[in-house]
Amino acid sequence: MMKILIVGSGGREHALAWKLAQSPRVSRIYAAPGNAGIAEIAECVPIAATDIHELLSFAMTNNIDLTVVGPEIPLIAGIVDVFEQQGQRIFGPAREPAMLEGSKSYSKALMQQFNIPTAEYKSFDNAAGASHFANELLAKSAGRSVVIKADGEAAGKGVIICENVTEIDDALNLIMVERAFGDAGNSVIVEEFLVGQEASLMAFTDGITIVPMVAAQDHKRAFDGDMGPNTGGMGCYAPVKGLTQALYTEAVDRIIRPAVEAIRGTGIPYKGVIYAGIMICEDGSLKTLEFNCRFGDPEAQTVLPLLDCDLLDILIGVTDAHLDAVNVRWKAQTSVSVALASGGYPGAYETGKVIHGLRQVAHLSDVYVFHAGTKLVESGDVVTNGGRVLNVTGLGDDILQARARAYAAIKNLAFYGARYRSDIGYRAIETSDSSTL
Ligand code: AMP
Ligand code: GLY
Repeated sequence: MMKILIVGSGGREHALAWKLAQSPRVSRIYAAPGNAGIAEIAECVPIAATDIHELLSFAMTNNIDLTVVGPEIPLIAGIVDVFEQQGQRIFGPAREPAMLEGSKSYSKALMQQFNIPTAEYKSFDNAAGASHFANELLAKSAGRSVVIKADGEAAGKGVIICENVTEIDDALNLIMVERAFGDAGNSVIVEEFLVGQEASLMAFTDGITIVPMVAAQDHKRAFDGDMGPNTGGMGCYAPVKGLTQALYTEAVDRIIRPAVEAIRGTGIPYKGVIYAGIMICEDGSLKTLEFNCRFGDPEAQTVLPLLDCDLLDILIGVTDAHLDAVNVRWKAQTSVSVALASGGYPGAYETGKVIHGLRQVAHLSDVYVFHAGTKLVESGDVVTNGGRVLNVTGLGDDILQARARAYAAIKNLAFYGARYRSDIGYRAIETSDSSTL
């Protein structure tokens, strides 16, 4: 029997805790710091996800058998190296392989060196050079757009799409002069703007064996029809209709596998989840937008309910390097996960609003409610405590059934200012089908 520590406090970590709680080999789950939903199945301990030394000391004192890291920040900071030096088993890549997410210039250089398809780009540590190249690319792109990205980890916010010279100058000014993303803006990537639909392909790997998961499609914009500002993700569906079997195989063979093999060649194998953000371009080609070193959020809340075997076996297969011996199975169903967000998100929003209806949705079949930003208060109420508050996942035999289940459930949930997108998974629905919704 194993004691597990989950690091993080979002919907992704709730989904991990929920799936691990089903394992007959798990005796106890702790979460640091966790949230109100996680607290129903795990013991939450008040340690920040970034406090590596406190986490290590907790794991050692409590004889934790496996620590599972949700967010990227501790991985990029080297939590895995620190734990492994003390003989603690931990799921996630070490500091060097995690640079695949931590440094965009590292990741782009690796893609270029190993012929992993990606947008044309150059990396710069000065604004003048970046501006010159950006204007050149813009002229070549038939006047459409170029993308400017802060090199370092910027919580998904350091990517700016520019349509003209002024926007290019403003973006470079924001990143390199005003340093809006801090040290993440020491250098920038300037790259070609890609047009198409995105897919998130995550895979488990122990550095040798690669087990791809069902691909998912996040909906990052705040409002229906992909309008409004980018968010951490307003919903997600899986599998991705536009990523046909042939494209899925191509994505594994030309993107995921070469990256894992390239990193193995550097000496420290990649262990954990490798996540490729992929653009399925209008001409049918695939290009890599980015790599992440962890489960996606809300991809985990969408994909883990489709996993039809024991997640613990997979995680231990990865940490102990015998993933080849694990039989990983998926349900042949469709999953749709809708985020219920605070009014105002991704801008300013209020917290502390009482959430109603959680009990009504707890026992709906093929519906899973994962807490993201929630908190249990003394009155016994669960209140909002973040921008994205809940992720409501529905499973079904097809996209329409999965979607109907998720939306029927979300209608039972309420808090002051609550808001959600009503079109999650729209790309999987034929125009003729949507009239029946
Ligand atoms: P990244 O953190 O590099 O994945 O960028 C975040 C988001 O910005 C992506 O998920 C895309 O929606 C968008 N994006 C990034 N790079 C490009 C690109 N070259 N062309 C079009 N959109 C992009
Ligand atoms: N859903 C996007 C991410 O986790 O980075």
